[in-house]
Amino acid sequence: MDGHWIVLGASSAMARAFARRLAAAGCQITLTGRDTADLARTAADLTLRGAVDVAVLPLDLRAAPAALEPLLAHAAAGAGPVSVAVFAGSMPPQAAVERDPGLLSGLVADNFTGAAALLLAVAPTITARGGTVVGVSSVAGDRGRVGNYAYGAAKAGFQTFLSGYRNRMARAGVHVMTVKPGFVDTAMTWGLPGLFLVASPEDVARDIETGLKRRRNVLYTPWFWLLIMTIIRLVPERVFKRLSI
Ligand SMILES: NC(=O)c1ccc[n+]([C@@H]2O[C@H](COP(=O)([O-])OP(=O)(O)OC[C@H]3O[C@@H](n4cnc5c(N)ncnc54)[C@H](OP(=O)(O)O)[C@@H]3O)[C@@H](O)[C@H]2O)c1
Repeated sequence: MDGHWIVLGASSAMARAFARRLAAAGCQITLTGRDTADLARTAADLTLRGAVDVAVLPLDLRAAPAALEPLLAHAAAGAGPVSVAVFAGSMPPQAAVERDPGLLSGLVADNFTGAAALLLAVAPTITARGGTVVGVSSVAGDRGRVGNYAYGAAKAGFQTFLSGYRNRMARAGVHVMTVKPGFVDTAMTWGLPGLFLVASPEDVARDIETGLKRRRNVLYTPWFWLLIMTIIRLVPERVFKRLSI
């Protein structure tokens, strides 16, 4: 991990744990998100941990692509590799989306189209100067479930986008890694019932760094979610539609 890393959704505990690894590697880091006071505190911490230059840029992905201009100009400044790590996402309760379908557009912007717009716009800079892309999706994107199919559908869209984007960027030697965490102990899942095999944000960040070293294309974290999701994908639809998993 080197050069300039732009982190989307940098107030996420997973993003913070990953950014600490970037700092330890001596990277330049740009933290983006809506809560700039929180990001400023993280920036101070990352500077103490060895980051060479940490910037904070406000960014609401629901306002993309118009809101992307300052970030794109910032990414284009300087020389050397430019990398992007996408941790942004939101998971409103499925019941709330069923009551108010108007929530769907924000959900899709948070989990898919906001980051996708940034990745499309920054692609020429990355291909010209080199870099890496990490996109955090979710195991929820592997199959629609009754408990969170709106969120899962947005993640599935992001995964499919990343698959094609990887295909495009590989031609320029750029590595694009899709990350599919299972349950992780963060603000998003705090207090939710029925969680099991819950990983820590630090576990996920370590797996992402290892995955990048091994140039993995798709990373399930922790690894056993690959087995779990393989089984879940194999359940026939006539059975699956009766399950509440
Ligand atoms: N926790 C899990 O079990 C789990 C499992 C699988 C995948 N994931 C995915 O992992 C990623 C990190 O999630 P987390 O668990 O750490 O949740 P989190 O604490 O809620 O973090 C989500 C991050 O996304 C940002 N975000 C949301 N909407 C945004 C918008 N419109 N513009 C800019 N930033 C926005 C949030 O920023 P604000 O501070 O501005 O709200 C926050 O930094 C997400 O993509 C999530 O879907 C989580």
